[in-house]
Amino acid sequence: MPAIVLLGAQWGDEGKGKATDVLGASVDYVVKYNGGNNAGHTVVIGDEKYALHLLPSGILTPGVVPVIGNGVVIDLGVLFEELDGLDARGVDTSRLLVSGSAHLIAPYHTVIDKVAERFLGKARLGTTGRGIGPTYADKISRVGVRVQDVFDEKILRQKVEGALEQKNHLLVKVYNRRAITVDEVVDEFLGHVERLRPMVTDTALVLSRALDEGRTVLLEGGQATQLDVDHGTYPFVTSSNPTAGGACTGSGIPPTRIDRVVAVVKAYTTRVGSGPFPTELLDDEGERLRRDGAEFGTTTGRPRRCGWYDAVVARYAARINGVTDFVLTKLDVLGGRERIPVCVAYDVDGTRHDEMPMTQTDFHHARPVYEELPGWDEDISGVRSLEDLPKTAQEYIQALEDMSAAPISAVGVGPGRDQTIEIRSLLA
Ligand code: GDP
Ligand code: IMO
Ligand code: MG
Repeated sequence: MPAIVLLGAQWGDEGKGKATDVLGASVDYVVKYNGGNNAGHTVVIGDEKYALHLLPSGILTPGVVPVIGNGVVIDLGVLFEELDGLDARGVDTSRLLVSGSAHLIAPYHTVIDKVAERFLGKARLGTTGRGIGPTYADKISRVGVRVQDVFDEKILRQKVEGALEQKNHLLVKVYNRRAITVDEVVDEFLGHVERLRPMVTDTALVLSRALDEGRTVLLEGGQATQLDVDHGTYPFVTSSNPTAGGACTGSGIPPTRIDRVVAVVKAYTTRVGSGPFPTELLDDEGERLRRDGAEFGTTTGRPRRCGWYDAVVARYAARINGVTDFVLTKLDVLGGRERIPVCVAYDVDGTRHDEMPMTQTDFHHARPVYEELPGWDEDISGVRSLEDLPKTAQEYIQALEDMSAAPISAVGVGPGRDQTIEIRSLLA
């Protein structure tokens, strides 16, 4: 019966991996519906730390069926490397299902992603360089190669030939790179066929039947609302739809079957890569958040840009995604401050905006309007119930809930699986 969407409310790295892992024990399927190995989810289980990129975080939970949906872009080399890494650590990965309609990242996509960024110079987006944008561009241009194509060598060759005809002009004439041959791409794909074959299925059908049978399906978003190609800070976004609508198109589960939309939101804000970020702190406070929150990218190792909580961004996420619950993460990181500023609105050239400005120009000019909330000194990482938190931490949670347009149902106080305060069940 229930299908639950779990997604990021800000610019990514909110702690979606941990939240998925915590819910994993109570769900039957975890489906990744967008993005690819641009994602980086760190999940800590006891003394073990796992970094996942392409695989759904649910793969770490025994009994869960992890699914890579049709909305994902797959680098097969990365897929098998990640599976090997988990197998070597004793994680059972045998239940993984992969959609035959997911698109494949080819070597030319990765090359073009990196070289295009280099050519952009100062105007670069700061992509992860994993070929994500060029692969989605080919999907929309109808020259993409899909998982199912590798099972028909003739079709595969035709499609790669068609794609390379354009790509090699671009690579050689514009970017001054060497041409890529059809054979090298086809051979690489074919090299994975036998291992891939048993995983590939009509995942939309499998999920529909699972829901008919009363199973619980968790749809796990990569990236986040502000990185959505339609609803984020375009053009400083990723090339997929991490928002709730993307969960439907990226999995084949219709909106009428979705019961709950859980948004993971950090108690402050971070962003990796270029683009506007109104509450960014370029001073010692930003450095302190980065240090205390260990804010370095899981995928690229880049230091994350850090700033205060932005309630305009949270309210926007609530509205665009129809959020039923927030999971507030990393509250523990904010300890030891006398007062904690929170952005409640923007000042755009003298005009107050309580909602996200409509234009890119206005958003670039947005200055945060702060309210200061009292902080706390105590280490809260061992707290497991709301009542045991310092009164000011409870008030911080309440204030964020009041200004963010949806209830906060859980609070993270550390990276560990058990370091979570549950306020109301996300599954009932
Ligand atoms: P994701 O991309 O949304 O899955 O998030 P990342 O894994 O990239 O980044 C979140 C980081 O914060 C990871 O290193 C997590 O282990 C860690 N984390 C998650 N929740 C909490 C929390 O409540 N407190 C602290 N201190 N760390 C957390
Ligand atoms: P998770 O799932 C944070 C950012 C990149 C860049 C922009 C476009 O871990 O939250 P891309 O390679 O996707 O074309 O890059 O999007 N980005 C992320 N930032 N967390 C992520 O994933 C991200 N995935 C992409 O830094 O600014
Ligand atoms: Mg991440």
